[in-house]
Amino acid sequence: MIWTVLLLVLLYVILTRRSRSKGEPPLDRGLIPWLGHALEFGKDASKFINRMKMKHGNIFTVRAAGRYVTVLLDPHSYDTVIEDSDSLDFTRYAQVLMERIFNLQLPHHQPAKAKAMMKRHFHGINLATLNSTMSRNLQALLKAEMTPNQKDWKEEGLFDLSYSLLFKTGYLTLFGGEQNNNSTDPSIVYEEYKKFDGLLTKLARGTLKSEEKRTAQSVQKRLWELLAPAGLTEDSGSNPWLHAYRRLLQGEGTDEETQKKAVLMQLWATQGNVGPASFWLLGYLLTNPEALIAVRREFSQISQMETSEAPLTDRPTSTPVFDSALEEALRLTAAPFITREVVQEKTLHMADGQQYRLRKGDRVCLFPFISPQMDPEIHHEPQKYKYNRFLNEDGSVKRDFYKGGKRLKYYTMPWGAGTNGCVGKQFAINTIRQFVYMVLTNYELELCDPNAQMPEINASRYGFGMLQPEGDLPVRYKPKH
Ligand code: HEM
Ligand SMILES: *[C@@H]1O[C@H](CO)[C@@H](O)[C@H](O)[C@H]1NC(C)=O
Ligand SMILES: *[C@@H]1O[C@H](CO)[C@@H](O)[C@H](O)[C@H]1NC(C)=O
Ligand SMILES: *[C@@H]1O[C@H](CO)[C@@H](O)[C@H](O)[C@H]1NC(C)=O
Ligand SMILES: *[C@@H]1O[C@H](CO)[C@@H](O)[C@H](O)[C@H]1NC(C)=O
Repeated sequence: MIWTVLLLVLLYVILTRRSRSKGEPPLDRGLIPWLGHALEFGKDASKFINRMKMKHGNIFTVRAAGRYVTVLLDPHSYDTVIEDSDSLDFTRYAQVLMERIFNLQLPHHQPAKAKAMMKRHFHGINLATLNSTMSRNLQALLKAEMTPNQKDWKEEGLFDLSYSLLFKTGYLTLFGGEQNNNSTDPSIVYEEYKKFDGLLTKLARGTLKSEEKRTAQSVQKRLWELLAPAGLTEDSGSNPWLHAYRRLLQGEGTDEETQKKAVLMQLWATQGNVGPASFWLLGYLLTNPEALIAVRREFSQISQMETSEAPLTDRPTSTPVFDSALEEALRLTAAPFITREVVQEKTLHMADGQQYRLRKGDRVCLFPFISPQMDPEIHHEPQKYKYNRFLNEDGSVKRDFYKGGKRLKYYTMPWGAGTNGCVGKQFAINTIRQFVYMVLTNYELELCDPNAQMPEINASRYGFGMLQPEGDLPVRYKPKH
């Protein structure tokens, strides 16, 4: 019996053993059969990919959980992957994740249609409406958090503060809740969402322990219930986009049960990044006095010119210092993977003239966090927060960065790129700007410990968009008088 099993295992190992063929990138299978490098990858993907980069260079193929993934780290060559939607498919891997994380299958879905629809709702005249609804909600939530005549300091972790406020703002703005009675209190949705968010990476990797699996299922169920009325009818109190999305799904024959799951996925896509991004930005400002002074100065010039309470939403306002400070925070803490599945064999032409063959069925993965974002050849002292890194000396936006003497198209990529880039970028930037503006102009906000440092990064979240801290940064705040 034992011999048969051993023989089968050995046979399996030999049969699934793959070697590097001519013209293919360096292959690193790892020691463990099938799993390969999956454990190291999941624990700290950035550290692992850096180690592989030292060993193999800017392109290599690794095995992780039965799949072969070619990692490409030369930003000059990114367009050969981003722009080839014939050989490299975006939706297949997205569907795998959708099923693992959200238990969701949309067999007749037309992603291009959904995307075009979303673009319509998040740009142009609709963006102006969104801006002002968002701003109103944010103001109301801030006031509820702290009455204007309060005199005592309130202490809180900055991550908790930013994430909860912005989640609730975004939830009210896009998913409604004012009209549908059950989810009137966005705090309840936030509490459930946080539990879900904590299990997200394990759901994606399929590494939940059995107890966590039960928790994940019950949290999901609770969120589906809470989101059930969102966008269901035209007057459900949510943004018209959500109702249009529901109608699109209905038109594709999706039942209501499945729609709820899709709505939870949209909650994640639209609310998962803004709060963490605002945390990192405010945290870097508070721990870099010079940066804080510069951003404050820019904001105070705006508030002197304007009379309304939320001047940034009245009309387009240019804030180059803030924009650079945000870009820099995102450079340090936005770490999405850009993943594609190879659907037909492809020769990848690198910018340096090298060519590599990609095998059908493999995946290709770009990790812009390592390069360009943390690449010392592109960004001097990449670990350091420099609020004016994206400004020229004359105060204009800096767009020229170089690697190997050649100007880069991609020098930071927090929003992804190409047709699959973030649809909500403008809205996200405006939300973060509004939040930081309100907090800095209407409140006194300071570190509890003036010498506090930024918390460490939670290494298990590399690859999933905005990073999150390990622990929090205690701050205190009160209204200005
Ligand atoms: C700081 C905040 C945000 C960051 C850093 C961010 C980043 C990203 C990234 C990296 C992607 C994936 C691109 C790719 O796969 O190549 C993405 C996709 C997406 N984002 Fe954002 N995002 C943010 C906020 C938002 C907001 C506020 C919304 C909506 C209102 C939004 C809506 C979306 C949607 C719908 C997609 C999927 C696009 C598709 O189907 O291909 N995002 N975002
Ligand atoms: C919500 O509650 C109010 C009264 O509290 C009621 O008038 C309204 O019809 C309810 N709306 C829904 C969607 O249940
Ligand atoms: C509110 O919740 C109750 C029970 O939790 C449910 O029966 C009812 O359908 C919900 N109403 C709405 C508008 O979601
Ligand atoms: C790091 O993130 C993971 C996944 O979200 C979470 O389970 C874990 O508790 C976090 N660790 C710390 C120390 O915050
Ligand atoms: C809404 O916010 C975006 C992002 O900051 C900004 O570019 C746009 O001008 C704003 N729209 C209006 C009408 O204020």
